[in-house]
Amino acid sequence: MKTAWWNEAVVYQIYPRSFMDSNGDGIGDLNGITSKLDYLKELGIDVIWLSPVYQSPNDDNGYDISDYQAIMEEFGTMEDFDRMLAGIHERGMKLVMDLVVNHTSDEHPWFVESRASMDNPYRDYYIWREGTDGKEPNNWGSCFSGSAWQYDAATDMYYLHLFSRRQPDLNWENEKVRDELFSMMDWWCRKGIDGFRMDVISLISKPLPDGSGRFLDGRMQPGDLYGDPGCANGPRVHEYLQEMNRRVLSRYDLMTVGECAGVTTEEAKRYASLDGTELNMVFQFEHVELGDGELGKWTDRRVDLKEFKQIMSKWQTELSGKAWNSLYLSNHDQPRSVSRFGNDSPKYQAVSAKMLATCLHMMQGTPYIYQGEELGMTNCEFPSFEEIRDIESLNAVKELTEAGKTTPEEMLRFIRLRGRDNARTPMQWDNSPQAGFTKGEPWIMVNPNYTRINAAQELADLDSVFHYYKKLIALRRQETVIVHGAYQLLEPESESLFVYTRTYGEEKLLVICNFTEHEEEYQLPEEFEESSILIGNYPRKNIGGRICLKPYEALALKRNGL
Ligand code: GLC
Ligand code: CA
Repeated sequence: MKTAWWNEAVVYQIYPRSFMDSNGDGIGDLNGITSKLDYLKELGIDVIWLSPVYQSPNDDNGYDISDYQAIMEEFGTMEDFDRMLAGIHERGMKLVMDLVVNHTSDEHPWFVESRASMDNPYRDYYIWREGTDGKEPNNWGSCFSGSAWQYDAATDMYYLHLFSRRQPDLNWENEKVRDELFSMMDWWCRKGIDGFRMDVISLISKPLPDGSGRFLDGRMQPGDLYGDPGCANGPRVHEYLQEMNRRVLSRYDLMTVGECAGVTTEEAKRYASLDGTELNMVFQFEHVELGDGELGKWTDRRVDLKEFKQIMSKWQTELSGKAWNSLYLSNHDQPRSVSRFGNDSPKYQAVSAKMLATCLHMMQGTPYIYQGEELGMTNCEFPSFEEIRDIESLNAVKELTEAGKTTPEEMLRFIRLRGRDNARTPMQWDNSPQAGFTKGEPWIMVNPNYTRINAAQELADLDSVFHYYKKLIALRRQETVIVHGAYQLLEPESESLFVYTRTYGEEKLLVICNFTEHEEEYQLPEEFEESSILIGNYPRKNIGGRICLKPYEALALKRNGL
């Protein structure tokens, strides 16, 4: 198999607003990132994925862009950006930018023009429709609650916004839109960036209106106020991505990953096919949507291990040899992985964070580490709605409580478990006030557990989560089997253990992870009775026969040479 650099890479995601503040205004910025590049180098990652840093009114923290070729003032200047990029490259790392092209901000000049009049040359850059009987054109719902349509009095029509009403959807049907976007991408490539993470890219092709000029109606679940637009994997999405690939991506040495809500393994084989005509890999959502309930993500249900194993294994085996996986348990839209899939009590926080990391990093694909995950950072007990900043959470509280589907108390509990702000509290650098993130007042509260969980303390402790991640990353570089080995699930019926093998030629790994706080017995397969420990999260010298796994214990064993 031909190996590309991104097959072997480990990616680290930075959410700039919460990473490091250099000037005391309480908001993370580019100079803050530059000041921490040595920390990332020490961790050993290869690639930084930077969440949006473009000019934005911040209705959705930078995912609403008003100028694709300017830096958000709060984050710094283009000179700061260039210095950061040079610093990344000097250290042998690469930079992948977030590309948000399903929608823009309503303050983007294209939209300001578009809404001005029916005959404006930019009118067709967005998706405008007439109302039906004085109401929205159809029942599509926005991912951030309410209708996906916003009435605009200036021209007496509605525009589509799958996210907030300040994030109007671009009309990809319009060739001029594609031309503008592709030349903007080309501009960034010429600047020397190394790839793109493509925001909600599976949504860019909307199902066309039917013969009557009306959009297809959304699928309603019982009790829904609005339906699901069913925009994922739309009719022309692959055509658009192939065009993007021909016109931009294939002309540079890039890494591309598409955020693909609603993607199946079948679809992923098209988006991320090894022939390289579209993207390198996708972010799938099946494992992070497990256990969602009647109110979608707003639930206190825990993920069932058997289902989790089944989904992770399906992606491992079905993509094998056909497409490339991305591996993630957390990002800026998800709660902290240790709280969700592990155990964030002081007793088990570190050990279960290491277990989860082992489970994920020993799989096939490109691993993504979300800032603070390498420290085992946890969800945050937000005291009240006052401390919540995320538009998705705030809109959901309003919609769901007004509809009588939940109470404010219950919603606050759900937000502490599933809200996006859990991932957005400031990076915990040390135990000084505000966790060393800022000298000022942070834009969102610092998790009070920073005195116990922080980078300074973990750098000094060789047994920390940080050093464990460092070791995992280094192992991937030493052991080809981690990158290329074929995956096989063992013990599918176990409710407590996640066990799998990786095989590459004569080399074979066995990964055993205890997902419970109990001790668990496990009989090693015979071929592993003579094996060495590649990595583990408890002190253990040798191994053989029947073993007793400690709470949240993880082990990766390598079969001794044949
Ligand atoms: C993606 C981003 C998320 C954002 C949304 C709209 O899902 O990851 O943060 O709110 O797209 O751009
Ligand atoms: Ca700042």
